[in-house]
Amino acid sequence: MFNSKIICFESYVPEKIITNDELSNIVDTSHEWIYTRTGISKRRISTVENTSDLAINVGKALIKNSNIAPEDIDIIIVATITPDHLTPSTACIVQGAIGAKNALAFDINVACSGFVYALSVADKFLKSGLYKTALVIGAETLSKIVDWSDRGTCVLFGDGSGGALLVASEDENSIIAEDLKADGMCWQAITGGSIGINNAFIKDKKENPFYLQMNGRDVFKFATKTVPKSVQQVLDKSNLSLDDIKYIVPHQANLRIVEVVAKKLEVDLDKFYLNLQDYGNTSAASIPIALAEMSKKGILKKDDKIIITGFGGGLTWASMLIKI
Ligand code: COA
Repeated sequence: MFNSKIICFESYVPEKIITNDELSNIVDTSHEWIYTRTGISKRRISTVENTSDLAINVGKALIKNSNIAPEDIDIIIVATITPDHLTPSTACIVQGAIGAKNALAFDINVACSGFVYALSVADKFLKSGLYKTALVIGAETLSKIVDWSDRGTCVLFGDGSGGALLVASEDENSIIAEDLKADGMCWQAITGGSIGINNAFIKDKKENPFYLQMNGRDVFKFATKTVPKSVQQVLDKSNLSLDDIKYIVPHQANLRIVEVVAKKLEVDLDKFYLNLQDYGNTSAASIPIALAEMSKKGILKKDDKIIITGFGGGLTWASMLIKI
């Protein structure tokens, strides 16, 4: 019987920092509005690198950190809603660039829950006993699908990438419990990159809105309703309580959402690891960027238990209880 052991986390973000004040030169907004409504101060915006470039840097860092040879990697999963292309997948571009010539590779699209879903998929591959090593990466250049004239959305998002390297293990188990869900009835709450039908036989072509559109209030209500329940689910499945958990690492969308979640769970806000002030909402990349940052700061110790919890487009949500 095999389980999945997480060996390390890494992240990579574009160099360019855009502050709230800089955004106020583009749209009618202010640092005060953005910061008080969201907790975000700045974000990284890519002017050179595409999603695959960010993911490749994470892949290389994970290989270096874990000392595992590229040809020993069996699986590469990239969670993204902003791939370079519809085909090939971002994961295939990563596979080629890092020389993981024996790995299968594919992307998954689960928006801001993407990294947790991708970890879950990798976990099942490793548990099968057929594969030994997996790279799981969340990578986004949301800046290319954001409408930079819409102040209601463009202030919220950023670009970046993070990931984890997992191996099959007979002795250790990092993934204790999970809760993955979707509500496709509400898909219209967040849309982006829409591609309408288009062929030589259509007379009246409709323009599809390509840029990200969101009903902010509905998403706020959805997140504050589902995330506390999902966190409780993984605790119940593991027979643990929040006292056993060192940190909750939420999708880094909005401080106000996290404050409501903390209140509903009756837990101190300090239990949540937050870096959204520096990166904004980087969708599938936000949780692994946070995990890599925690790892670098040395605040994740062996045997610590943490809960990661993502929520977003689909609508989807996903929580996982992890032992470091
Ligand atoms: N700067 C200044 N004013 C802004 C603004 C901005 N960037 N964006 C919107 N406004 C204005 C609106 O036009 C509106 O003005 P009006 O009252 O004159 O019409 C006012 O601020 C309030 O807008 P509203 O959209 O009702 O604000 P809100 O309090 O609901 O906050 C969000 C908006 C987006 C911050 C909030 O709904 C939210 O956090 N939702 C969740 C979004 C999220 O995290 N999505 C990703 C999940 S994966």
